[in-house]
Amino acid sequence: MAADKSGRYRDLSRQLAALLAGEPAPIANAANTEALIYHTLPDLNWAGFYFCDGPELVLGPFQGKPACARIAIGKGVCGTAAARAATVLVPDVHDFPGHITCDPDSRSELAVPLVEAGRVLGVLDLDSPLRARFDEVDQAGCERLVAQFLEHHRHYPNCRLWRNSGDQK
Ligand code: SME
Repeated sequence: MAADKSGRYRDLSRQLAALLAGEPAPIANAANTEALIYHTLPDLNWAGFYFCDGPELVLGPFQGKPACARIAIGKGVCGTAAARAATVLVPDVHDFPGHITCDPDSRSELAVPLVEAGRVLGVLDLDSPLRARFDEVDQAGCERLVAQFLEHHRHYPNCRLWRNSGDQK
């Protein structure tokens, strides 16, 4: 089962490489990345990016119901992932103090920070209506996809969309 899931993430990585190839525009790439994830991984009700904007995360491209536009760094699952610069895997959002409800259907959540040279640039957030939908294979797979997304954009330093939490406005 885990091998199947790992294989699915390897396929996703290949598809992502094809989608990103030659395209510098970060909004287009972020939109295609999360659309690919949303329509490939089963049992998701929301998938999208938040990008750092000073002390907050601001909503980026996503699939799913409308979501909160801004989340303070340190708040909710996404803000916690950004503050820790580490992935937060929540088997049941009802057990996560401070969880921010955007879609009441969400039951479990995986938030992977975008970290480059030690600086947090944003978060990839996945929600599922199933309890304990995400495991360590999902975490490793999504961390790899995020790394691939960031690596792609290192080739286009003049086309950045996001500012990290240490940047001045
Ligand atoms: N649940 C998130 C908020 C974002 S939505 O799930 C899309 C959180 O607690 O940060």
